[in-house]
Amino acid sequence: MGQTSILQEPLSLTGDVLALRVWRMPDMVIYQHASDEWWLTPLDDHLPLVRLNPMGIELLNSLDGNVTVAWLLEKYGPWVCGPDGETGRWHLERWSLPRYSLCYFGSEPPTGQHRSNAKWDLLLQHIREGWSGSQGFEGAEHLAEFHRHDITTQEGHFDQIETTVSHLFREPSEALQGLTYGRILAKHLRRLGWWSPKPRCIVEVGGGLGYVARELAAELSPAEKDGVRYLFLDITSPFIPSQLKLAREAGWRSSGTQGNAEWLPLRDATVDLVIDNENLADMTPVQLTKQEVDAGKGATPLHQEALDWIRRIRLPLGQDLPDEFLFNLGPIRFVSELWRVLKPGGRAILIEFGIDNGWPAPVKLPGHTEYEVQYTHLRQAARWLGFQEQYLTLPQFFALRPDTRLLCTGAAYTIQRFCAAQGKPFAIRAYTEAELRTALGPMLPKLLGCHYHEVIDPAWFGLWDFKVLLLQKPGAAPRPTFQETKGFRWYSQR
Ligand SMILES: C[S@@+](CC[C@H](N)C(=O)[O-])C[C@H]1O[C@@H](n2cnc3c(N)ncnc32)[C@H](O)[C@@H]1O
Repeated sequence: MGQTSILQEPLSLTGDVLALRVWRMPDMVIYQHASDEWWLTPLDDHLPLVRLNPMGIELLNSLDGNVTVAWLLEKYGPWVCGPDGETGRWHLERWSLPRYSLCYFGSEPPTGQHRSNAKWDLLLQHIREGWSGSQGFEGAEHLAEFHRHDITTQEGHFDQIETTVSHLFREPSEALQGLTYGRILAKHLRRLGWWSPKPRCIVEVGGGLGYVARELAAELSPAEKDGVRYLFLDITSPFIPSQLKLAREAGWRSSGTQGNAEWLPLRDATVDLVIDNENLADMTPVQLTKQEVDAGKGATPLHQEALDWIRRIRLPLGQDLPDEFLFNLGPIRFVSELWRVLKPGGRAILIEFGIDNGWPAPVKLPGHTEYEVQYTHLRQAARWLGFQEQYLTLPQFFALRPDTRLLCTGAAYTIQRFCAAQGKPFAIRAYTEAELRTALGPMLPKLLGCHYHEVIDPAWFGLWDFKVLLLQKPGAAPRPTFQETKGFRWYSQR
């Protein structure tokens, strides 16, 4: 029996279970559909919405940690608790299961001292493991296979399978001073002097649906775009038509090709600028053993390649090497490819979530597992190759106002399900309270429990974990000291 089918079995409300106390999931968003009907969303969106009548909402409201399963069963078990006829017992048999995650049964409160001890997180972890059917590392080939073969459509991919910071900010947002992610990126690249003189050949690697390209174009003047070639390179072919459509509509002279960033199908020294947004965590991970490191001999050619990189770039692995650990081989291959394809003076911007210390951890998403980027390792590789590098967090790079409050992303998913059940569109994106009011109109007061986090609060999207690595290949011919604005060149005197 697979893990998913185990998780689908209703819980048997007998024995020790009856003595457990019951807590309702915090931060739950509830929709009051009618005067006597409320809706809830199970965590797994393959399950139908849970619909409750007044008895059902009373059951939900009584889950305050002071009541036991036995007490609830006696009080609500036999009664019909929803318009679909499910009884209180039916709900109690399911709500604490990971796929529902609507409440927690236990002898202690569901939160530990530290956030990572929270039992709510354990429920989430179960469901995440259920998505992939496996724990931890999923093998070196898994990510390339997933992108090449399992993604058959771009439809809903960045809403349902994986969302990205740039996707959440693809429309103008109050949190970005009324700009989009791509526009603010273009402003900062211009501020760094990366548009004077302008790059002639830009390659965007892993461009998703093409919003970053569209919004970069919106920020740049026609003169800044004139004569520039914009090439998309993506391993997932169903994304490329959308990239080309948005880029061409926005005024880029663009082309697209399917390829793996770890082996760029580009000639040496031909590219001025590479943009790689939220893609490094998708590149090949390798699980090495301490034994392999000690022996200097990899169990497979891939492991040997990783060990060779570790030796070549003189990566200090520390004394307390675990028996098994993950290493970001793909991102290092990519940076070495960047060194090859960039012209002297060429630049690259790499943005992704990651860590500075320790070993990369797997991050479970529906259908695939991504891996944190270990930036200390990647930066060492970049410097060893010869790059000049700068490194900072995404909120620092964008100079984000830290206190803007945004709707919890989990709440946005819940609202999307409520809207979908009524045939209404609702986009997954970052919403301030005012923006949500505009998007939902009269539906907003019927939503109970909408909650907001400051943009840099880890509970929002973990933006502090997103890092910006700026790379420059030295050796450019001396550049004229001018800035180009709206087609005019402003020369500075030295
Ligand atoms: C998480 S998405 C980010 C998309 C987009 N840049 C954004 O900000 O929304 C990762 C993108 O990289 C592509 N990708 C993943 N692995 C890749 C690889 N090894 N080589 C090239 N593209 C890859 C995916 O198809 C997808 O377009």
